[in-house]
Amino acid sequence: LGEVSKLPMRPVTSYVRRSPRMNDSQKAAWQRLSAQYLVGELDRQAMASLFVSQAPLDLVELFGRDAPLLVEVGAGSGENLAVEATARPDWNLLGFEVYDKVLGSTMSRLDRAGVANVRLIHGDAVTGFDYLMQPQSISELQTYFPDPWHKARHVKRRLVNPGFVTLAASRLVPGGLWRLATDWDDYAEHIAAVFDVSQLFEDVTAEQAGSGRRPVTKFEARAKAAGRDITEFVFRRKETL
Ligand SMILES: C[S@@+](CC[C@H](N)C(=O)[O-])C[C@H]1O[C@@H](n2cnc3c(N)ncnc32)[C@H](O)[C@@H]1O
Repeated sequence: LGEVSKLPMRPVTSYVRRSPRMNDSQKAAWQRLSAQYLVGELDRQAMASLFVSQAPLDLVELFGRDAPLLVEVGAGSGENLAVEATARPDWNLLGFEVYDKVLGSTMSRLDRAGVANVRLIHGDAVTGFDYLMQPQSISELQTYFPDPWHKARHVKRRLVNPGFVTLAASRLVPGGLWRLATDWDDYAEHIAAVFDVSQLFEDVTAEQAGSGRRPVTKFEARAKAAGRDITEFVFRRKETL
C-alpha cells in the first residue's frame, strides 16, 4: 500500500503514442461510419489524443435522448461494446479509445451488430473524463485488460492509479458500478491496493453486480492460452465521496 500512495495524482499516459497503420477495411469503416459513431468537433491537442479544456459533452444532444450511460475505457476492437449495446437497448454507451486502427474495427463491429446507442471518442480517457464528462454523469464504467505496464519504472503509467480513480469516482453517479478485469496478477494486486487506499468505492460480489456478459476478447483468449488467470473486480461508488 505504501507504494500505491506514492503514485501520482496527475494524469498518466497509459498508452504508447504510436499506432499501427489502419488496414484498408479499417480505413473504409472509418470513412463510412465515423459520422455515425465518432464524437466529432472535439478540441484536441496536436497528438489527437489529449483533450484541452472545453465545454463538457451534452449527452442528451449526442445520443438524442436521456438514458443511463455506460462508459468503457480502452474499448479495443469493440467486442464488449457490441455485446453490451445489444443487451442494453435502453442505455447510452460511450467508448474511449486512443488507437484509430482498433476504432475502425469497432465501428465495423457496431455496424454489423446494428446498434444505434453507441458513440466513440478518439482519445485519452483521463483528460476526456476531466474535460468532456460532467460530475455524476456515468451510471456504469468498464475497464477490461488495461495495458499492464510491468516494469517498475512504468508502474506510474498504469491507467488505474489514485488520480484516475478519484476522477472516475467524481464522474460516476453515487452507487455507480466500475467493472474491471486483468490477466496479470501484479496488476490485480495493484488495482486492489489502489481502490483500498482510495476509500471511494465498496467491493461488490459478482452476484450483487449481476455480472456475466463480458465476451472473451482477443486479449483474454491470448492470456488464457498463455496460462494466465483472469481476475475480475466490481466496485460500487460510495453514496458520498
Ligand atoms: C490491452 S487492450 C484491451 C482492449 C479491450 N478492453 C479488450 O478487453 O479487448 C487496452 C486498450 O486500452 C487502450 N487505452 C490505453 N490507455 C487508454 C487511455 N488513457 N484512454 C483510452 N484508451 C486507452 C489501448 O489503446 C488498448 O486498445
